[in-house]
Amino acid sequence: MLPFINWRPRALLQSLHLDWLQRAGVEVAVLRLDQIDPLISGNKWFKLCEHLLAAHAAGAEGLISLGGAHSNHLHALAAAGKRFGFATVGLLRGHPQQTPTTRDLERYGMQVHWLGFAGYRARHTPEFWTPWQAQYPTLHNVPEGGGGLAGALGCVPLVAQVREQLSALGWKDYDAWWLAAGTGTTLAGLVLGEACERTVYGAMAVPDDHGVAPQVEAILQAAGCIRRNFELIDASRGGFAKVDEALLGFIQHSEAASGVPLEPLYTGKALMALKHAVEQGHISRGRRVVFVHTGGLQGRRGFAQA
Ligand SMILES: Cc1ncc(COP(=O)(O)O)c(C=O)c1O
Repeated sequence: MLPFINWRPRALLQSLHLDWLQRAGVEVAVLRLDQIDPLISGNKWFKLCEHLLAAHAAGAEGLISLGGAHSNHLHALAAAGKRFGFATVGLLRGHPQQTPTTRDLERYGMQVHWLGFAGYRARHTPEFWTPWQAQYPTLHNVPEGGGGLAGALGCVPLVAQVREQLSALGWKDYDAWWLAAGTGTTLAGLVLGEACERTVYGAMAVPDDHGVAPQVEAILQAAGCIRRNFELIDASRGGFAKVDEALLGFIQHSEAASGVPLEPLYTGKALMALKHAVEQGHISRGRRVVFVHTGGLQGRRGFAQA
């Protein structure tokens, strides 16, 4: 049976020093979820926590989930299965291919199935899980990216982690959160944790038609949250995983200046969107912002130029 796992890693909150922040008089601290563990990195662990507790409570032996050939979510899930000793199955988008991520999945003992593209698109249909449940009756299924209310609830404790560390930065308070959004699950967790006190800005790594806003709404409704305080900003730069020279140059410059590693799909785009917001005066002088480093650094092995 899947063990009861009560690993609650604490992420460091540290000041971010960049010339454009200094010029604008905006202070930013980074919550380094990328540093919580060498393998189980970023927001993924927090999104998995409640799914793991539900799987344990249901008497499951492991977890089955979905993702792409560079999926940070499947990577963290496979690594967690290896670390804590439970079975993992990954249903992958597209046709069989070897990437640094899929090699790791197999190394960590995840059983991988390739669904093709049409097969993967069917994941939202009601009958999708039926054959997989028949094949793996002892596994608990986790939605793509570790999403849903369970995923969001796992992220709520990040609010307390930040508040506990404010005085070490010399901050009495902070004004807002800024983070990359893919499904919006992590953002929804922060909105719940804040209970409307501070605005949570989600820099969307996917275009508008990916339905981030309705997904966030659905989670907040499922949690019974009536008042909400968040804003979504398009940071996708033309599409999910679309990378351009300006972005790569920005990442290179930011890494050299701050010492904080970034990747081009989520954290690089989110920080670049924050820079635009600061430069356009949307975040005014004297404001203090917590930027969540959501990890994903394993995925940058798939980008030779990044
Ligand atoms: C590195 C990274 N950052 C941010 C996100 C977005 O998180 P969410 O789906 O909770 O919005 C993801 C995955 O979706 C990710 O892999």
